[in-house]
Amino acid sequence: MAGTFDIAKARERFPALQQDQVFLDNAGGSQALGDVVDAITQYLSKTNVQLGASYHTGSISNTKYEEGYQAAAKYINAGRDEIVLGASTTQLFMNLSSALKIPEGSEIILSKLEHETNVKPWLFMAERLKLKVKWWVSEKPELKLTPENLKPLLSDKVKFVACTHVSNILGGIHDVKAIADVVHEAGALFCVDGVSYAPHRAVDVKAFGVDFYAFSWYKVYGPHISILYASNAAQAHVTPMPHFFNPTETLEDKLGFAASNYEAVQSIPCITAYLSGAFESIAAHEGKLQSILLDFLNSRDDVTVHGSTSADSKFRVPTISFTVDGVNSRKIVEEAERISNFGFRWGHFYSKRLCDEVLELGPEGVARVSMVHYNTEEEIRGLVEVLKKVLP
Ligand SMILES: Cc1ncc(COP(=O)(O)O)c(C=O)c1O
Repeated sequence: MAGTFDIAKARERFPALQQDQVFLDNAGGSQALGDVVDAITQYLSKTNVQLGASYHTGSISNTKYEEGYQAAAKYINAGRDEIVLGASTTQLFMNLSSALKIPEGSEIILSKLEHETNVKPWLFMAERLKLKVKWWVSEKPELKLTPENLKPLLSDKVKFVACTHVSNILGGIHDVKAIADVVHEAGALFCVDGVSYAPHRAVDVKAFGVDFYAFSWYKVYGPHISILYASNAAQAHVTPMPHFFNPTETLEDKLGFAASNYEAVQSIPCITAYLSGAFESIAAHEGKLQSILLDFLNSRDDVTVHGSTSADSKFRVPTISFTVDGVNSRKIVEEAERISNFGFRWGHFYSKRLCDEVLELGPEGVARVSMVHYNTEEEIRGLVEVLKKVLP
């Protein structure tokens, strides 16, 4: 039996799961742990004061906030001085892109498999610093970023490379450690969007060998707040942006902008405690969930699963996107909603370059079912029955 985490009991920890709705848009946002809800209620009820004060309640708030930061850093195997918590991954990448120092005339490499969050900030940076942008593409059917398809783009002019750990459409896991190695051999910095990976697997930024990494706790069973990691070495390339009289030592000092929402920060230890030791069981359970859906989708000639068709949880997470020949993705979702309580979505999910230019889809994009560990095999078997009714 994998791990000690009790998958069957996990559902009891989520108040939102005790209602008549099957949540299958988890890559959009997961449900929040009951402990998180309680911690936020407690904080706002009793200790909602401005940080930094020395009176009794102030010192409780300071401690809770600091414990949130410490738990977040430890969770991703980073130093306390190597993280900043902020409003969203998009916001944190924009902050970083405003502060990065890269010599004029250098090149940067961006992938076409991205959520726009890991593109727009770097295009903005390229314009600001007069950098040349090169596009990294992996065509159908592979749709996989690898050291091999990156290498032809690398040279000593390249100073920055960004890619996703897992696409929010395709679900395949990229080997970011292997990619980090070739990026560093070329002398460039490597930034990874971990948003679609973090809900499913443990994050260890040192083992990944990345310079920058970000994800959003609101997709990892917590509140709407995100984390950005920048290694101490990479921070040498970050211009500190605090008020002139404030310190500039940590990443929080440099890019915090007073944007680490207190009640959300102090709830992070509830999430990290819940997920401690959980991922072996989570990966095994998610493997079962994705194989139920993929077995059905793969059995149909008129269905295209975009990305890996394998249910092996070594290679993918249970974010599964598909299109059906001659059927509008929007219609699939709307019809399923009409006859059931299954909540999934259609569209491009902000991975517009991927949907338009690589997958060459129409405006309705894909139908996406994104599962997490609190979904049950029974739910996914139920979804298959609904799809059998909805599809031609
Ligand atoms: C892969 C991926 N990256 C980035 C984001 C954006 O995250 P945030 O809403 O925290 O900016 C999302 C949101 O859906 C995502 O799926």
